[in-house]
Amino acid sequence: IATHFTLSDGRKIPSIGLGTWQSPKGQVAKAVEHYIKAGGRHIDCAWAYGNEAEVGEGIAKGGVPREELWITSKLFELHHHPEHVPLAIADTLKNLGIAYLDLYLLHWNINWQVDAPEGVLPQFEHVKLSADGKRLLDVPLCDDVLPTWREMEKLVDQGLVKSIGVSNLNIHRTRKLLKDARIKPVANQVELSIQCPQYELVEWLQKHDIQPQGYSPLGGTDGEALRNNPTVLKIAEKYNAQGSNVLISWLIKRGIQPLPKSVTPARIEQNLITVDLTDAEFQEIEALAKSHPPNRVCDQSTLYEPFYDIYQEND
Ligand code: A2P
Repeated sequence: IATHFTLSDGRKIPSIGLGTWQSPKGQVAKAVEHYIKAGGRHIDCAWAYGNEAEVGEGIAKGGVPREELWITSKLFELHHHPEHVPLAIADTLKNLGIAYLDLYLLHWNINWQVDAPEGVLPQFEHVKLSADGKRLLDVPLCDDVLPTWREMEKLVDQGLVKSIGVSNLNIHRTRKLLKDARIKPVANQVELSIQCPQYELVEWLQKHDIQPQGYSPLGGTDGEALRNNPTVLKIAEKYNAQGSNVLISWLIKRGIQPLPKSVTPARIEQNLITVDLTDAEFQEIEALAKSHPPNRVCDQSTLYEPFYDIYQEND
């Protein structure tokens, strides 16, 4: 079972990363330190998660040379304006306490065009959400991400990031970016699990040599039904493993990089273990993934209603 994947630019990335979305500030430093001390080498972060300084603390305490780690972060949609990209990467690097990122992803295919004073990196306070938090108010939107991508390409030239990629882009929007990109996106990080298998997208990405990365691989906070699915547990038992190990291994066998999130030391260690699924077991899980309509943990479809459909597959 693959311990690493090779990206289209030739760089090798450890298969399993530690997710940090929703990892509380008070716990994530210890989680990252524990992950590194347990042998983990791939940490997935984002400016928008609001915890990069604590992740950086954990990286420092992990005590391994920088070049042994793979660190990914993401450019938030508040920071897509070409003038904000250099400020955003500087903030992320300062918070993480490192000099370069291994991978910088465009977090979503949308630009929130907020007004902020010159030279100031826009913050959450600069945007207004509806009372239920599900709708963005009074923010002009733009889905042309090429000017942003051009700035991300410059970060590679400057050595601030080694590779660039995207996140949450569907086939249509990835294809559009690919057409004009000087530096090709090496990865696309989207939600991937047995409840959100995204077969068409994954196959398309693999055909175009773009590495699929999967967040919420265990079904997120409320994912007990996935982790404790009887078929998953039956297979796990055979390997003396847990449901999470089967879900993670199934993704790797599909050629996907899983990014399980945990702040619990025992689970962080457990999630680094893979099992070598037989073809029959793999097929059993495939059948499970295909047996119900897809469901997302992270569904942003309401955020831009009625102006913009973030999942729309055409112009
Ligand atoms: P916690 O962080 O409290 O340990 P996903 O990666 O799909 O987003 O899932 C994350 C959720 O799954 C978190 O609630 C996390 O809890 C929980 N989790 C992570 N690893 C395991 C595991 N090995 N067994 C059970 N629950 C887990």
